Amino acid sequence: MEPFNEQLAVRVDRYIEHLLNSHDEVLAQNLQAARAADLPTINVSPNEGKLLYLIAKIAGAKRVLEIGTLGGYSTTWLARALPAGGKVITLELDQKHAEVARHNLDRAGVADRVEVRVGRAVDSLRRMLDQQEAPFDLIFIDADKPGYVEYLDLALQLSHKGTVILADNLIRNGRVIVEQPTDESARGAKAFNDALAAQQRLESIILPIIRENLDGLSISIVK
Ligand code: SAH
Ligand code: DHB
Ligand code: MG
Repeated sequence: MEPFNEQLAVRVDRYIEHLLNSHDEVLAQNLQAARAADLPTINVSPNEGKLLYLIAKIAGAKRVLEIGTLGGYSTTWLARALPAGGKVITLELDQKHAEVARHNLDRAGVADRVEVRVGRAVDSLRRMLDQQEAPFDLIFIDADKPGYVEYLDLALQLSHKGTVILADNLIRNGRVIVEQPTDESARGAKAFNDALAAQQRLESIILPIIRENLDGLSISIVK
């Protein structure tokens, strides 16, 4: 057996993508529109999008909350997993990102099921709590990494028993395994991982996710 190597891992990710993710014109147009508008290319990969979609379907999630919309790529995957009458609320700081996302969600035919809320995620989340928004069945955290610990705390307050909480970018190419990561995104991810491990209301795992490099997605269920 050949030893593990990074190039091989990337090729295996592509192999899975080509095997199980047939070309999707709507998702391709989503990424093209995001590129054309100069949005950063930090959307989830096709395989991770498919994973989000499958988790949402397996959970039967009817009310979904996303923190960090960008151009609505992961939002489209989540919206497609909804049963009839389901809804995604997605939170985005940047007005321009939100506009690109709304356009993309419209073209994907899911705009009727998705609400994009613009503003700082902590403000939107606190407003939801103040207004006694019904709890969500699935919450996907994917915005600024230094905010993650606070997003987890607020997400728990918007959860019920059985809510699935997911968070992206928790491994940061392995930078989280050192004691003091140098960049703030790895520090935020590491603080989140520690909070997840200490959180008595959750049962959790972090899955390594391969793309151009190594990252990770947590999957938790609220007790
Ligand atoms: N979920 C998307 C990627 C999100 S990228 C996908 O996979 O397709 C992270 C997004 O979070 C960016 O669009 C960024 O503008 C947004 N963001 C950053 N800080 C934020 C904040 N404080 N509140 C809400 N959104 C924020
Ligand atoms: C970054 C953010 C993401 O959500 C992601 O998936 C990858 C990178 C970033 O801010 O660097
Ligand atoms: Mg991400």
